[in-house]
Formats: sequence, structure tokens, C-alpha cells
Amino acid sequence: MADIKTIGVIGAGQMGGGIAQIAAASGFHVVVFDAHPGAVDKCRTVHKKSLGKFVEKGKITQQDMDATLDRIRYATQMDDLQAAGANWVIEAVVEDAKVKRDLFHKLAAMFPDPAVVLATNTSSISITEIATSAGATASRVVGMHFFNPVPLMQLVEVIPAIQTSKDVVERTMALATKLGKTPLKAHDRAGFVSNRVLMPMINEAFYAWMEGVAEPEAIDGIMKLGCNFPMGPLRLADFIGLDTCVFIMNVLADGLNNDKYRACPLLKQLVAAGRLGDKTGRGVFDHTPHTPPAKS
Ligand code: 3HC
Repeated sequence: MADIKTIGVIGAGQMGGGIAQIAAASGFHVVVFDAHPGAVDKCRTVHKKSLGKFVEKGKITQQDMDATLDRIRYATQMDDLQAAGANWVIEAVVEDAKVKRDLFHKLAAMFPDPAVVLATNTSSISITEIATSAGATASRVVGMHFFNPVPLMQLVEVIPAIQTSKDVVERTMALATKLGKTPLKAHDRAGFVSNRVLMPMINEAFYAWMEGVAEPEAIDGIMKLGCNFPMGPLRLADFIGLDTCVFIMNVLADGLNNDKYRACPLLKQLVAAGRLGDKTGRGVFDHTPHTPPAKS
């Protein structure tokens, strides 16, 4: 790992921001890039809040927090990744195959040194397809699938493309460990392991609701109390984003050629209504902060 000094993260949203935070907390210099200045500003605020929580709980010191923030550079120009001499790049942009293919084509040209690993945090898109767009250096592309909230979740699912070299896989496992996570390997099949198992379970919870088996609170309560889930499947869907859930179900249905993975009509209907979960304030549940009634 001595060869890796600076990690470039593309996308300053929930996932990219979380990856940037744990990388900096593990001692790496980090450049987190997002073309939207608003996203970068929000990411900085989320970092301060999350690290502040760890200080409050005595998990890190104030000095650790300050040093971590000092190691993060927030950029709105992609060239800054190159200027900072990133030795490892992790992409966490929108789940859109074309956007990712175009990005990896660009990254391959921007980082001609084949020792610079290009990792994608896609939740289900084919790593092989993304690697192909890196052309002659496809062997340095790998899937590094983190989980939300990144600072708290233990797993990194490591997914080699068909082209990924053994050396890159080994270095990826080592980096994930250095980031304080447990890496586990999965093959490049739609949804890998995590979302192939998780998403049909969430989808089934929507069917149970749609068919009137129980109300959302009861569905979640049953799974929390009966199966020891930290969050019920419908609350988790809001947390992940209902649009992301539909997207992943579509990838599973198409990639595994099986209609059993089709997204539940009620899930799709909520997405059509703009009820995407936490990020829009309402999904299955209402997440808007309630203002107390004015005193008369
Ligand atoms: N940084 C620092 N602290 C954080 C944090 C963050 N990002 N997020 C939450 N916390 C803190 C909270 O502030 C809270 O602190 P407090 O005790 O002082 O109030 C503490 O963690 C516990 O949080 P909560 O009280 O809100 O609730 P929980 O005890 O339920 O823990 C959780 C939160 C860890 C998110 C837990 O509910 C959980 O594990 N949920 C399941 C998450 C999950 O399944 N994630 C995977 C999603 S799938 C995915 O990401 C893959 C993608 O491809 C779809």
C-alpha cells in the first residue's frame, strides 16, 4: 500500500462523500471531485457532522478530526484529480451505465500510468462493461462496492471484471482492509451478491404492502423484531432511494434474464410520484422534519 498516497474520489454524494471520509481518516490524502459546487459544499458539511459524531462518542479525538479534514481537498474540476497525483481513483457517480462508460474512457486517458487503479462503486452495473471502456488498460478496472452509511458499514464487496488482473484484485483487497473494512469477493453477475439477495427481499416487502398483507410499519416491525434487522426493508428502501431500488431490480431482471426480479408496481408508482425516500423527504415514510405547532 506504500505506493498509494492520494485517492481520487469522483462524486461527492452519499457514497462518494463517505468513501472520501474513510480514506482520509485512514491516512490517505483525498481529492473528492464533483462538478456541482453545491454537492461539494454539502459533502464538506456532512464530513464535519459525521466526524463530529465520532469525536462526541470518543471514537476519535478532535485532532484526528482536524487532521482528517486537512487531508481532504474538495474539487469542482476533474483535472484536480490528476494535478493532485491520484494513485487510485474510486468512482461513485450516478448509476447510469453510459455515464460510467464515458467516465472510464476519459479516466483511462487522464491516467495513462496503468499502475493507477480505476475502481467503481457501482451497486449492480457490469464491471466488465465498465472495464471495456477503459480500452487497453481494462485490467486495472475493478468493482469496490461500499455500503451506506460508509463510515459505519463494515463491508467492501470486491468484484473483478473478467479483464481485471490478479494483482489489481489483491491490491484492492489490501486497500479495503487498510480503509478499515472487510473485503469479500463476488463474481461479476448482475447485483453481485449483496443486491441480488437484498433487493428482491425489499421488493417483496413492497408486494406484501401492495397486497394488503400488512401496513408498512407492521412489515418493518416484523422484520426488525423477528429477524433482528437494524432497519425494516421499507425504511431501508427509503434510505437507499426508491429510484435506486427500481434501477437495481431492472438490472437484475435484464442481467439474469428472469422476470421474478421485476420491480413491484407499487414501488414504481412511488418513484413516478417523486417519492424517492430520504433524499426527497418522502418515500414509503415521511422524513420531512416536523415543525412544532405555533403556540397561541
Ligand atoms: N457517521 C457517523 N455517525 C453516524 C452516521 C455517519 N454517517 N450515520 C449514523 N450515525 C450515528 C447516528 O448519529 C447515531 O448516533 P447516536 O447514537 O449518538 O444518536 C448512531 O450512528 C446510530 O444511528 P441511529 O440511532 O440513527 O440508528 P441505528 O442504531 O439504527 O444505526 C445504521 C444506524 C448503522 C444506519 C443502522 O440502522 C443500520 O445498519 N441500518 C442498515 C443499513 C444498511 O443495510 N445499509 C446497506 C444499504 S445497501 C447499500 O448501501 C448498497 C447499495 O448498493 C444499495
